[in-house]
Amino acid sequence: MNDVLVVEPGAALRGRVQVPGDKSISHRALLFNAFAEGRAKVTGLLDADDVRSTASCLRALGAEISDGGGEVVGVAGRFAEPQDVLDCGNSGTTMRLLTGLLAGQPLHAVLTGDATLRRRPMRRVSAPLRLMGAQIDGRDQGERAPLSIRGQRPLRGLTYDSPVASAQVKTALILAAMQAEGELVFSEPFVSRDHTERLLGAMGVVIHRDGARLVVPGGQVPRAVDVVVPGDISSAAFFLVAASICEGSELVLEGVGLNPTRDGVLEALDAMGADVRRENERVVSGEPVGDLRVRSASLRGVTIGGGLIPRLIDELPVLAVAAAFAEGETIIRDAQELRVKESDRVATTVGLLRAFGVEAEERPDGLRVVGRGRAGLNAASVATQGDHRVGMAAAVLALALPAGLGPSTVHSADCIRTSFPSFPDLLERLRAR
Ligand code: S3P
Repeated sequence: MNDVLVVEPGAALRGRVQVPGDKSISHRALLFNAFAEGRAKVTGLLDADDVRSTASCLRALGAEISDGGGEVVGVAGRFAEPQDVLDCGNSGTTMRLLTGLLAGQPLHAVLTGDATLRRRPMRRVSAPLRLMGAQIDGRDQGERAPLSIRGQRPLRGLTYDSPVASAQVKTALILAAMQAEGELVFSEPFVSRDHTERLLGAMGVVIHRDGARLVVPGGQVPRAVDVVVPGDISSAAFFLVAASICEGSELVLEGVGLNPTRDGVLEALDAMGADVRRENERVVSGEPVGDLRVRSASLRGVTIGGGLIPRLIDELPVLAVAAAFAEGETIIRDAQELRVKESDRVATTVGLLRAFGVEAEERPDGLRVVGRGRAGLNAASVATQGDHRVGMAAAVLALALPAGLGPSTVHSADCIRTSFPSFPDLLERLRAR
């Protein structure tokens, strides 16, 4: 991918497109099957840097994973001690989920990642895993990678009320709990994405669920299972917003995952007055899937907060772009978690909006965006700050500018490869000629 993305304004988007495989489910299909007993076929796996990081770590731990990632042979609950440091690249999901999985293995492993990942908080997983008996250390008392893990067998059970609604924390603890003596009783403030519960359930792992509380008995090894990965709603979101704000657009996004713990972006866009319809809804590999038909519409500002936040956390940068083209003010609150993503997304999103002439301000737990349609906006030259979603949000904003404004540039765009390598090509292909 070119490191500089040049986006010409004033396009309508038209056509049908299949967005790439869901990143969260792709990671889980590899991690859980690699740990499981048996072999599995994974169809529609996301081919992007983050998932490649997961595959290469799992190979170093003794699992067999084919080149494209589609065939996995599991280790039946026993990883091999890795010969070298495991590199999780830019992927927080890889690091946090592996930490939980390795906490119960009798081996020593060191997990590291790129400069961005080494800045991100890890105590949210290392602290509860230590309470289960694992020895986990890292810079800043286990807060930052590189993390050193000396797994213990068996781990102890744990009752844990997580202060954050985080599927990564929840999953790390479930993976450790499967290897414990005793049970995990876990709760979180709001239900975070539940792909782990669905997939492990299909693999024969018992997880009792009651809203945002779950109980996992110890001593369980999953059975490998084939997975068909749906399209990623977090990638679809860039096109949902782009088509909504670029006049004259109509797109059909095919086979998108519509898990109710992930579909907050549809609820937010609906409240803003967007025209998005669900079609052809079905269930694939235990996950709700459907096509999304989106037509351009005039949007209005809204307030987004509370239990909706975990259901659309990764879509907030591009929803802020939608807010810039809406009529009236949009407030995003209860979203402190944005500050510890691939960048401080409160700061980077506000920075990006302002570069294009949008009135926006940071709040401790979110942001405020003043929408004035297209009035007063300008083309801009912005940098991704190493954050794939900030880069794609910038490209969507640039595309929706009035035709006369000239091109905008997004620098250090190669980070888009972590989740959506084909994004720039798709954007070009869908432009109505
Ligand atoms: C993910 C969970 C979310 C999300 C991330 C992927 C997952 O993070 O932002 O992109 O696959 O479990 P948190 O668990 O930190 O909320």
